[in-house]
Amino acid sequence: MSRSGVLDDGIEIRIQKALPSFSDASRTLLRRMLSDPAFRGAIPARDVAALAKNENLPVDEVMLALLPLAQNYARAPISNFFVGVVVRGASGNLYLGSNVEIPGQCLGFAVHGEQSALSKAYMNSEESVPALAVVGGAPCGHCRQFMEEISPDGNMTLLVPGKSARTLASILPDAFGPAALGAKQGALPVRKTKLELTGKASGALATSAMDAAGRSYAPYSQSPSGVAIRTTRGQVYQGCYIENVAFNPSLSPLQTALVQLIAAGEPYSAISAVALAEVQGAKISQRAVTETALASVAPQVKLEVVLARA
Ligand code: THU
Ligand code: ZN
Repeated sequence: MSRSGVLDDGIEIRIQKALPSFSDASRTLLRRMLSDPAFRGAIPARDVAALAKNENLPVDEVMLALLPLAQNYARAPISNFFVGVVVRGASGNLYLGSNVEIPGQCLGFAVHGEQSALSKAYMNSEESVPALAVVGGAPCGHCRQFMEEISPDGNMTLLVPGKSARTLASILPDAFGPAALGAKQGALPVRKTKLELTGKASGALATSAMDAAGRSYAPYSQSPSGVAIRTTRGQVYQGCYIENVAFNPSLSPLQTALVQLIAAGEPYSAISAVALAEVQGAKISQRAVTETALASVAPQVKLEVVLARA
């Protein structure tokens, strides 16, 4: 038993159920990784290499083999439809993702598994995402549009169990990409915006939200924003706003932060404080939607809003 106690039992079951054919060495590696309170869904490249060696599989096959584990993290109380995704960043790191439906909230607030995994690659400042594997999804049209923002060249490779590999361009012809609204590049690589606080100095959580806002991607609204969530065990989960040229598939900073918390295996009931940072007087605000969603997942928490100037 380690630091996180009860959570570890869940992890043991997750690994057993999802990866029955994995060797003891791989399971031990994953158990250690997943039970670390700092885990945010990223499998470092050196551990990917160890898994590939242990299982005697090429990396694409490791991605496919890990899909049931990613799927196990899905929180889909409305559809009971569970989607698992594994993406590979240019660094060689893998990122697990799963779909999230917020109980009581409109369906538009759901995060698709593909978005969940890609947002983790974004949060880790990947230069690009060369490949995405998915089980349970298609990926749907909404996800193809989100993938286009990450890979506007259409070169991202799509891996689906039992099917041959395809490129994004082949499943999204005539794409409506970032160039349609005059953007010169997509969401990656991450660029920083210099933001300054408008008010007095604020606490650590607000500073973390400001940092996330400064790394967010908002070329269409020019309204950067970020969220930081703190939980009762003292962990902080950051979320950057990730915009989309077709607007609706954009991920709010709360959604991006929640998928990090879910990867760490924490329940919503552990949320003890949330801060949102955004630009004063910007074209759009995340405040209302963040407060509304928090009313469902953490009704005990009052949102702290920090205003910045670009
Ligand atoms: N879903 C995905 O996560 N990816 C897809 O590409 C298809 C749909 C999720 C969204 C929602 O939580 C559930 O599956 C039913 O649509
Ligand atoms: Zn989708």
